[in-house]
Amino acid sequence: MKDLDGQVAVVTGAASGIGKSIAVRLAEAGASVVVCDRNGEAAKEASASLPSIGTSKHYSVAVDVTNKQQVQASVEAIIAESGTIDILVNNAGVSTMNRIENLTEEEWDFNFNVNAKGVFLFTQAVFPHMKSRKKGKIINTASMAGKRGVPLLAHYAASKWAVIGFTKSAAIEMAPYGITVNCVCPGFVKTSMQERELSWEAELRGMTPEEVKEEYVRLTPLGRIQEPEDVAKAVWFLATDEAGFITGEALDVTGGAHLL
Ligand SMILES: NC(=O)c1ccc[n+]([C@@H]2O[C@H](COP(=O)([O-])OP(=O)(O)OC[C@H]3O[C@@H](n4cnc5c(N)ncnc54)[C@H](O)[C@@H]3O)[C@@H](O)[C@H]2O)c1
Repeated sequence: MKDLDGQVAVVTGAASGIGKSIAVRLAEAGASVVVCDRNGEAAKEASASLPSIGTSKHYSVAVDVTNKQQVQASVEAIIAESGTIDILVNNAGVSTMNRIENLTEEEWDFNFNVNAKGVFLFTQAVFPHMKSRKKGKIINTASMAGKRGVPLLAHYAASKWAVIGFTKSAAIEMAPYGITVNCVCPGFVKTSMQERELSWEAELRGMTPEEVKEEYVRLTPLGRIQEPEDVAKAVWFLATDEAGFITGEALDVTGGAHLL
């Protein structure tokens, strides 16, 4: 369905995992996609692999979402190159795992800087442009961990609660300008982040990574590990005009894992 024909979508953390899948889905819907990631080489490769539909034109930008100057310069360069930004997907994120008693200040700052501050910086940089056009869709990747407590991930969970709080607040502030702000809350998604988490969790809990993975499946009522595409489809829906009257929502995309 080419319902994003002619639109420009900026996706952060789009060089791999969920972000890459979102970039593919939006490109399939006809959007021109700007693949933003701190890994410039991987971003270039991801952008080159996107399907081109009609007049859509994809490219990549190397940017660290925690760096205000880089974010500002990237947004200005994208508007100069593409003429506009219709959709912003703040997806870049990181995680580490630790018990609170061993958690370092560096881990706390690392998680908060990318997961929460990065969302704020990109949103703030894009807002004046969307405000002047009285149009825009902002979608943030939060997490199932942004709505509940998660042992070994207190710092990560706190950073994702921050994303949901920011999303709901921005939705109210930006509504007068025709901008919707929503987030998606994925569960256990098969990405490189999950691969890292499986081995950390296994070590911290004295299990094997396979046993941890089996537990993730048991904790998912729909009975399988989630694919990045499951999240991408929800982001695509929120980016279309079909979702035009939805704002401030934190949509669970977990196969039911958030219910347990
Ligand atoms: N995998 C899961 O189970 C899961 C579950 C819930 C939420 N999430 C969230 O989904 C999002 C994507 O995660 P993923 O699983 O695809 O992880 P991933 O590690 O596969 O991909 C994350 C991408 O973000 C980029 N990135 C990291 N820090 C950055 C920075 N400072 N600036 C720019 N780019 C940066 C990385 O280079 C990478 O390409 C994250 O926000 C994550 O918290 C993931």
